[in-house]
Amino acid sequence: MSIKPFQTRGSVVCITGASAGIGAATAIALEKQGAKLALCARRVDRLNALRATFQLPGEHAPIEMDVADAGSVERGFRAIDQKFGKLDALVANAGVGAWYRVDETPEEEIQRTLETNVAGVIRCIRAGVPLLRKAGGGRIVLVSSVVGRRGVPMMGLYSASKFALHGLADAMRIELEPEGIAVSVYCPALTMTEFHDAAQGDKGEKPPTSEGETADAVAAGLIELLRSGKPEAHRFGALHPKRWAGVITQLAPRLMDNQLRKYYEARRAASHRAAVRP
Ligand SMILES: NC(=O)c1ccc[n+]([C@@H]2O[C@H](COP(=O)([O-])OP(=O)(O)OC[C@H]3O[C@@H](n4cnc5c(N)ncnc54)[C@H](OP(=O)(O)O)[C@@H]3O)[C@@H](O)[C@H]2O)c1
Repeated sequence: MSIKPFQTRGSVVCITGASAGIGAATAIALEKQGAKLALCARRVDRLNALRATFQLPGEHAPIEMDVADAGSVERGFRAIDQKFGKLDALVANAGVGAWYRVDETPEEEIQRTLETNVAGVIRCIRAGVPLLRKAGGGRIVLVSSVVGRRGVPMMGLYSASKFALHGLADAMRIELEPEGIAVSVYCPALTMTEFHDAAQGDKGEKPPTSEGETADAVAAGLIELLRSGKPEAHRFGALHPKRWAGVITQLAPRLMDNQLRKYYEARRAASHRAAVRP
């Protein structure tokens, strides 16, 4: 079966992590373009409030779902099946951050991050693919990160969780293409959302969130990827050095390590200067 073009109007799109940030911005943009949305997250009050802003709220479904809980994911996708009877696209966006040195990562953070960012994605794929088949094929977009292609200090666990999505997508592209399902990975960079406040650990290494992109801009890129069905898209243009950090690491790991070391040392010095400024 060949991969069909993706038309936003009339398509049923499931977005996990739709209660905030990039997921909510994607939902708002897709609703304006005529999609019917299954809005999934734990904070169902927020999903209800979001749906209430839509033109025809009854066409969309707020679905309470904790991706870290297998039973909750199964119940959620059953509810999607009952409401829509199919899925044209699944955006696996729900995710959490964790900022620790690898050798200081607490046990509960390993569980929380991997259960949400990796196992949660696999659970949604397992429950969502049968509904994509009912539509005769469609799209899957996994939301990774720029650090899903190159690990950076204090983000080892989070990086590892996002690296995993690229492995899953490589396998799924081959597994699912015969069924007309295109699989893509999206790599946003720093985005101004609640993510950074919600993340656990020492966020001192992070640049101020105000330096990031808006969730709306990142959502627009995600929707472009949904349409194209390309294997991967990044938020950095081809000439940006961070765009190639993963590739350079493959070819010359120490060269990239040195670049990143200098970058993080300079940033630490700048934030120290800002902290001691009278
Ligand atoms: N912000 C950035 O700088 C950035 C950069 C690169 C990649 N990303 C990735 O982009 C995605 C979205 O992040 P964001 O910036 O939009 O973060 P956000 O504003 O904190 O939103 C995260 C969303 O994930 C949901 N979520 C978290 N744990 C969940 C769980 N166990 N079950 C179901 N939903 C859960 C949250 O909903 P509830 O709490 O209501 O469940 C929320 O809707 C994440 O995968 C993140 O890793 C973010």
